[in-house]
Amino acid sequence: MITFSEKAKGITVASISHPFGTAEISLYGAHILSFKPTGQKDVLFVSEKSLFETGKAIRGGIPICWPWFGPNVNKNLPSHGFIRTKNWNLKSIHEESNQTSISLEYSSTSETLAMWPYDFQVILTVLVGKTLKMTLTTINLGATTFSITDAFHTYFNIEKIESAAVVGLEGVQFIDRVGEKTLREQIGKISITGETDRVYLRSASSTIHDYAMNRKIIIDKTNLSDTVVWNPWIEKSKSMPDFKDDEYQRMICVEAGSVLDNPIVVPAGQSVTQEMTITPIIENGL
Ligand code: BG6
Repeated sequence: MITFSEKAKGITVASISHPFGTAEISLYGAHILSFKPTGQKDVLFVSEKSLFETGKAIRGGIPICWPWFGPNVNKNLPSHGFIRTKNWNLKSIHEESNQTSISLEYSSTSETLAMWPYDFQVILTVLVGKTLKMTLTTINLGATTFSITDAFHTYFNIEKIESAAVVGLEGVQFIDRVGEKTLREQIGKISITGETDRVYLRSASSTIHDYAMNRKIIIDKTNLSDTVVWNPWIEKSKSMPDFKDDEYQRMICVEAGSVLDNPIVVPAGQSVTQEMTITPIIENGL
């Protein structure tokens, strides 16, 4: 079943429910807010202080960073691009007994052309079943090639940060973006013990091990070369007005992206498809 409601002024949310679980998707930002497989806690974290205001980004869930990842300070443009703060159009819904898919689309406008001079259409299809699959298609409607950096900036809900780890990125080179940027190599699993902002370059799938919740979350990706791992920790949390001071203990961002020096090139008239699948598995004694 799928129902629509207005969460806040100008912010419509689609609520999906079927035997395998529930999900909530905001048409504002094509932003997934919740994914709860039956019998499990939410896989996604949303800050209790998140704003739900048009023009402002939602803090949590799965923001889509596009057509650039990170700040765009030179031109004083919004961090992580502009589609996370736009209302998308509903394109289609398909309901089956054990899964539901919803497609949303957003196309260039005079406002986006002023920020980024390319005609485009983006289509996001979200498939909700035992897993959550997101497929993002970027279509170049113009006459010149463009390139993008982008990410599914997923905020995962974890029981407590000290009993969680990210595995699967051992031996991968990463850019450590806290303080002076350095290029390092990951030794062993990733445990978070301080502010963390890292880009694991050309990385494959990774898995969050939430030992306190006895849950593994596998993050698979296609055509998204990098993995960003982010936790603001104590001081940065305090400086974020839309995030509670202690919430860094209950979340970790593991983001599937094509970021920094690994852009996606989309020739004129062509399209590129990128995918992320999230598979949560309860495993007692993890
Ligand atoms: C992460 C970046 O992806 O997003 C961090 O690596 C950034 O540097 C974080 O602070 C949050 O960004 P924003 O724009 O949503 O506050």
